[in-house]
Amino acid sequence: MSLFLVTKIKPLTVITIMLCVQIVFCQQQVQDSSKYIEQKVDSIVKLMTLDEKIGQMNQYVEFWKSTDPIPTEGEAKKKYNQVKRGLIGAVLNVKGATEVRKLQELAVYESRLGIPLLFGADVIHGYQTQFPIPLAEASSWDLSVIEKSARIAAIEASAAGLNWTFAPMVDISRDARWGRVMEGAGEDPHLGSAIANARVKGFQGDNLSFNNTIAACAKHFAGYGFAEAGRDYNTVDVGTSTLYNVILPPFKSAVDQNVQTFMTSYNILNGIPTTGDATLLRQILKQKWQFRGFVVSDWGSGEQMVDHGFAKNKAQAAELSANAGLDMDMESYIFINHLKQAVKNNSVRIEVVNEAVRRILRVKYKLGLFDDPFQYCDNDREKTMIGHEDHEKFALELAKKSIVLLKNKQNILPIDKKQKKIALIGPLADDKDNPLGNWRAQAKKNSAVSVLEGLRKYTNDLNFQKGVDFVSGTPEFGDKLDINMTNKTGFREAIQLAKNSDIVIMVLGEHALQSGESRSRAKLGLPGLQQQLLEAIFEVNTNIVLVLMNGRPLTLTWADEHVPAILEAWHLGSQSGNAIAQVLFGDHNPGGKLTMTFPRSVGQIPIYYNHYNTGRPGPLETVLYSRYTDESKEPLYPFGHGLSYTSFAYSDLKIDSTDNDNIKVSVTVKNIGEMGGEEITQVYICDISASVTRPVKELKGFSKFFYEPNESRKLEFIITDKELGFYNNLGKFVVEPGEFEIMVGTSSQKFLSEKFIKKK
Ligand code: NOJ
Repeated sequence: MSLFLVTKIKPLTVITIMLCVQIVFCQQQVQDSSKYIEQKVDSIVKLMTLDEKIGQMNQYVEFWKSTDPIPTEGEAKKKYNQVKRGLIGAVLNVKGATEVRKLQELAVYESRLGIPLLFGADVIHGYQTQFPIPLAEASSWDLSVIEKSARIAAIEASAAGLNWTFAPMVDISRDARWGRVMEGAGEDPHLGSAIANARVKGFQGDNLSFNNTIAACAKHFAGYGFAEAGRDYNTVDVGTSTLYNVILPPFKSAVDQNVQTFMTSYNILNGIPTTGDATLLRQILKQKWQFRGFVVSDWGSGEQMVDHGFAKNKAQAAELSANAGLDMDMESYIFINHLKQAVKNNSVRIEVVNEAVRRILRVKYKLGLFDDPFQYCDNDREKTMIGHEDHEKFALELAKKSIVLLKNKQNILPIDKKQKKIALIGPLADDKDNPLGNWRAQAKKNSAVSVLEGLRKYTNDLNFQKGVDFVSGTPEFGDKLDINMTNKTGFREAIQLAKNSDIVIMVLGEHALQSGESRSRAKLGLPGLQQQLLEAIFEVNTNIVLVLMNGRPLTLTWADEHVPAILEAWHLGSQSGNAIAQVLFGDHNPGGKLTMTFPRSVGQIPIYYNHYNTGRPGPLETVLYSRYTDESKEPLYPFGHGLSYTSFAYSDLKIDSTDNDNIKVSVTVKNIGEMGGEEITQVYICDISASVTRPVKELKGFSKFFYEPNESRKLEFIITDKELGFYNNLGKFVVEPGEFEIMVGTSSQKFLSEKFIKKK
């Protein structure tokens, strides 16, 4: 869908003509360079032994520090020698210009063919400067800032020697129990596709051979976000319609943006581990979508095919995954240990190996590694670019745009700058570490600006009490969390402070390690004793602003019923406290909107806006319709919800379907409040009857603009077959004539609507 702002028409014809000339010129260059790369790649493959080829398909985690002596025994020695023998194609988690150079020198100067290594890592929402977690960033619905966030992450990561990130994670998920929702863009395939595209563009930049761009990786292919019961690594069993219309689109969008690598997932998808799924990897990704990069497994997912009951042993896992289209094995050792024998047995043809190696070398060429293997190892760039002050400034802008105002009864927010006697309460209020979120790459411990620090810039009439500690110790990535369920000793002082204050800001939520990999939760309330603290404070002072820091939607039914203002601040990264303070005191008007539905109860999950109607949607006079006996079926906060300190009025929705291939939808949006603010306008469609049932609504477009008070804009969206069609149960894209409803509004539940007939 394209959006035109009718009030600001540009000389379109001229722009189009210029664009054509550029495209022809660029395409010529692309063809020349890809021909050159193919020739180069072919010439290297011809020189390689089978061992060296399989070596390229092999990725290990960090095994030796350049500051340590050269390993003389054990695994480290073995791997050190493997690099020298050209038996490793890539490593992960080796970082720092000096470290990387040392290992790269070993590969380039001491191996027979001198093929450079790839250096990968999980650079998910920043390298040292931390941006908001991806789910938070997505709440900005702002593709240019999301792209810039990935761009800066790449600038910092590449300055530290890395040339490959395992991001973006483009898994759609409808299940807040799944801890990895923090790494994605939420529940919607349209928005998810746009964000996937923006993130790939940001990481890879305009030219992958520049020293500040890195290869991106669309992960986890596919279906990982649909783990049963939200339990990480669990079974995924979905129908064709969900697979094609919901799960695959963001991956396709990444391919369209020329993403260089794909990562398989840990789950089985309809009975087959994705690491060994030829339909996914060969048929869909490599043939249908014409993906030219390479596919890496997830950590150990190759050998896990044995646990899945798909391969009888590791040797067969190697054979099955190579034949299915896996090009590189991360940390399973199945290729390095078994692929040679498989080729000798002819159970894996040499052409399969050659193709995988070609794909890997092609990416190395595109990264410029064959021209200068050390271009990412520049100590000066590392010193100046990592944590650059401009990056921090941008982190603040993005953090502000990621905040979602969930509730604001009687406009309790923004807080008056002259407000006296403010109480700040909660375990996350002075926290400088948890706001950095999970998957924080090289963020320095305790480097985030806390809410306490942010608020101090506005007022001194502020007192702080933690109230409760909810996690003891300082757990690391893979550690268990020890949640405090008994110690309430801090309650008394916090209650006393609340009693003596005019307004209470409470900062509650999740520890950074409560979301992320293997951090599924069966209960989605405020962890530990935080809910009890909230209720105890409410008893003495109802004037509460609840600031939430979390990595996923939570069940906040009590808070929604009692607390007048709720601000969803997620884990916002390095500038967290400054962003929250600016929003609380009205220096920034919040404009973010949810990209994942907030349930009322865990029992409603999976809950998502683009559901089907059922045959008995109700309500009926009897109880015999689709409902719960003990809970509403409505979400607490729907997809697309987010308030502002101002309000927007929608009027004049018109549909012009004269040109049936380009249906024009127009609407007028006006800021009718007293403060300037951003509004995200959302366009949904519903195909009222179709050969395969369609959801009650599907997002197909959106726009985001800043509106001064009283300013109005007429927005026009063009809807084409791309938006009106869908994938049927054979995976074929079809467009069916008939009646459609168009809904345009401020959230998935507040909109104007009109119908039209699609002819032909
Ligand atoms: C496992 C995770 O699932 C994946 O997302 C990550 O990229 C790899 N580990 C490497 O750290």
